[in-house]
Amino acid sequence: MKKSCVLVCGGAGYIGSHTTVELINAGYDVVIADNFSNSDMGAVEGVRKITGVDIPFVEVDCCDLEAFRKVFEQYEFDSVIHFAASKAVGESVEKPMLYYRNNLLSLMNMIDLMREFGRHNIVFSSSCTVYGEPDKQPVTEQTPRKPATSPYGNTKQMSEDILRDAVAATEGLKGIALRYFNPIGAHPSALIGELPRGVPQNLVPYITQTAAGIRECLSVFGDDYPTPDGSCIRDYIDVVDLAKAHVAAIGRMVENRNDENYEIFNVGTGRGVSVLELVNRFREVNGVELPCKIAPRREGDIIAIWADPTRANTVLGWKAGRTLDETLAAAWAWEKHVRGIE
Ligand code: UFG
Repeated sequence: MKKSCVLVCGGAGYIGSHTTVELINAGYDVVIADNFSNSDMGAVEGVRKITGVDIPFVEVDCCDLEAFRKVFEQYEFDSVIHFAASKAVGESVEKPMLYYRNNLLSLMNMIDLMREFGRHNIVFSSSCTVYGEPDKQPVTEQTPRKPATSPYGNTKQMSEDILRDAVAATEGLKGIALRYFNPIGAHPSALIGELPRGVPQNLVPYITQTAAGIRECLSVFGDDYPTPDGSCIRDYIDVVDLAKAHVAAIGRMVENRNDENYEIFNVGTGRGVSVLELVNRFREVNGVELPCKIAPRREGDIIAIWADPTRANTVLGWKAGRTLDETLAAAWAWEKHVRGIE
């Protein structure tokens, strides 16, 4: 039997494309919506190829309420996953209004339309950035949020609050916010993965592009932090595992297993890995050269953060499954696929 239909906004993006694959694998119908602001049709084609399903696609900007309404008129989905947001921390400092407009307006339009059309379940992409620099590791969902250090981080906090308040005020509306830790890797088919435009801001795309010879040398931002090897520590979550957390969240709401109408889950492995450890694992697993130098600290970086994923493990029934080595091998396979490297 076919499960219900899910609208995936931002479905051509990095996490959205992987989530679409896992939704289809789990038996859901999917409609993909994207405005290609940071993606292209290649990801949709990759998803269609992996799944063998001709998934419907609509080009739409979720900030354009009238255009977005047509998607609700046309398709009978009961659940939505909202990936359609801007995500570059540095850019958000330069262009705060762009971030507030894109990230908040698209969510508010989504909620308004869900209310108007009586659609029930929403999964929202939040981030561990809401915890700021935590006083204690690992962080649980109860760890207090710290004031945001960028407009991007602020939009994640504000969006969580908007969703919480809208759910509280709307009969039949349920929401789950997933606080992602650091998503990395790619689909094992190497048909979809992360494809940043311009110079990568995030660690793993910079690593893979350096290994591919596109960037000269990786800069490790800081080796004098109060951590065992002096570099920053993160919880790197495989993007396919992360995608499966969305399927679990949708299932929980569709099957009415949720305890509260608004819930939050950390989505991480529970393991902290330093930048230098990650760099060395990448070299070892893939057997490639990776020129690397120590550079000054990057402004605004958190020293260390990793998840306590117990709540997602026990309540959501989701657990990270892939090893860091598998994930780093997949990231490199994807980069090689994109660059046509043998
Ligand atoms: N790093 C380097 N060299 C690089 C890039 C990154 O050493 O070239 C280090 C950073 O200093 C940091 C770690 O690698 O210690 C991870 O950095 P990322 O930029 O990959 O990710 P962040 O932990 O900074 O995460 C940020 C936000 C998230 C957001 C994510 C994706 O905090 O909320 O970027 O945009 F989701």
